[in-house]
Amino acid sequence: MIKQEKITEIRDRASIVEVISDYVTLKKAGRNYQGLCPFHGEKTPSFTVSEEKGIFHCFGCQAGGSVFHFLMKYDQLSFPDAVERVAKRYGIKIERSDGARDPSESGERESLYRINERTAANYRQILLSQPAGRKALDYLKSRKVTEEIAQRFMVGYAPQTGSGLLDLLRREKLSVKDAMRLGLIGQRSGQQFHEKFFARLMFPIINAGGKIVGFGGRVLDRGLPKYINSSETPLFHKGSTLYGLYQAKDGIRRVDRVVVVEGYLDVMALHQFGLCYAVATLGTALTSDHVRVLGRYTRNIVALFDGDDAGRKAAARSFEIFIETGLLGRAAFLPKGEDPDTYIHGHGPAALEKILEEAVPLADYYFSSLKQRFGMSLEGKSQIASEVSRLLTKVSNPIEVDLLVRRAVDTLGVREEVLRRPVVTPGYSLGSKRTPKDSPATPSPIRDDIAERSLVSLMLRFPAVLRSVEKEGEARQWLSSKWQAVVDLILAEWQERRQVDVFRVAQRVHPDQAAEITALALQGESILETECDKMAADCLSHLRRKYLRTLERNLRVAIRAAEERKDEQAKRERILEWQDVVRKERQLERRRLEPKPTIR
Ligand code: CTP
Ligand code: MN
Repeated sequence: MIKQEKITEIRDRASIVEVISDYVTLKKAGRNYQGLCPFHGEKTPSFTVSEEKGIFHCFGCQAGGSVFHFLMKYDQLSFPDAVERVAKRYGIKIERSDGARDPSESGERESLYRINERTAANYRQILLSQPAGRKALDYLKSRKVTEEIAQRFMVGYAPQTGSGLLDLLRREKLSVKDAMRLGLIGQRSGQQFHEKFFARLMFPIINAGGKIVGFGGRVLDRGLPKYINSSETPLFHKGSTLYGLYQAKDGIRRVDRVVVVEGYLDVMALHQFGLCYAVATLGTALTSDHVRVLGRYTRNIVALFDGDDAGRKAAARSFEIFIETGLLGRAAFLPKGEDPDTYIHGHGPAALEKILEEAVPLADYYFSSLKQRFGMSLEGKSQIASEVSRLLTKVSNPIEVDLLVRRAVDTLGVREEVLRRPVVTPGYSLGSKRTPKDSPATPSPIRDDIAERSLVSLMLRFPAVLRSVEKEGEARQWLSSKWQAVVDLILAEWQERRQVDVFRVAQRVHPDQAAEITALALQGESILETECDKMAADCLSHLRRKYLRTLERNLRVAIRAAEERKDEQAKRERILEWQDVVRKERQLERRRLEPKPTIR
């Protein structure tokens, strides 16, 4: 037996994308990865892997589950064997075996990290205690950066004459070649090495795990380029790295919010004033990878833009980025001419927090920017409608399409029909923009358990829904036995741990059903918190109605049977039961017909 905690640890440390990539060629597709399914023949990829959730799913053959399920199915392994295989790949010791560590792969990355770490420490030491650092310290002071913050962000200085990096490498037996790969050292000709960063304030870029993956270097004057950043390396990918995330992640979790700004110094200024949930991109626009990374910490993402036209344009553009990830961010705007750094120093943290509080959902912002751009004439409305439908094709999850359509209808006052793109397949496609032509050859059967599925999706995401299902004691009996078992498992998990881990639920059902459950967890990702109550209520009342209808039908049959048997007593009892059911049905129907408040 392997302990559940150990299994979870292994799952957390393993990258499902990495493991599956050993067997299947995967390509990035939206927020997930896709490839040709190894479990059935196909020409168009419908095999989807979610790194974020640690699960895979094939929309063609419905195979799916955790990284362990993948290996079990692919190599016909038992569960413990699959766990052991993954543990081994990541050098994790498990009691079951004495599996020796394989140092080759992780060792290489470690030595790259080590070089960055020593280099940063050296820059820092120069800043603090060498004469060459004086100028840089003065500069930091002129920018009102406190020593404490400079320390927390490990700011250092690379002097004009070099930081002695080559000596340091030699002294500490670190590889010059690795330092070249990291972009710290360049080679002119022959054995002529030189340092790439000099006469710059150095900002180490730290990943979420606390390792230095690269550097940004700023001039101390008006020289150009203002910043130089490390080039892309095996450790460093600008498009998915966020400056300050390591320092911010506890703060982000605590306040369940993150604010994204543009500059290194902006991040430091915000942290300095106690807004410890600020991060920045690295001189690039926000990407969907950034959003996805942040989505692991909070779903409440606020992007802070300049108040000028460029800032407003950037905000409207970033809506598309968010849409692709299934997260709906918000935008806040600074007054013209300010950046976060100048603003917080000039007006204090409360003023900035107020601006953040007033952030508008990017969706609303985007829709109203369309209004401005095209106007509300008939012509304008039709242009807006086509723009919105174009965007909706980027949304892979039908639940999310629903929500956006509802918002668009509310904000723009256009008719719903003109916004809806034609629905292509029953069920949904994830991360792929399929046309009917290349959808899976075997069409999935029309499902009559859509409400059950939606409910499970919702339960896997929202504690509020768990609570209302828990409260609605009878709810489980409205479900088919298949989903009853799943709902029971989820509720048990919830009652035991006050949180629901899809992975643990999937572990405890038949592997076929694990696949369905993981797919539902993916589907639920994009549902907005504000919509979940209403959606759950809809599902529940639909299920209840269906249940009562079946009950009513069965009772009618039973009444007739009792009559034929001339069993008066049974007949009387059944009739009473039947009346009760019919009364409940009527009640439910009346409630359904009552006008509903519009939900936004
Ligand atoms: N940036 C960059 N290369 C440049 C200029 C900027 O990579 N040549 C990136 C840096 O990540 C920088 C961010 O874009 O932090 C924002 O740029 P800017 O606002 O000009 O810099 P700040 O960090 O705000 O620095 P300062 O306040 O000193 O101008
Ligand atoms: Mn600035």
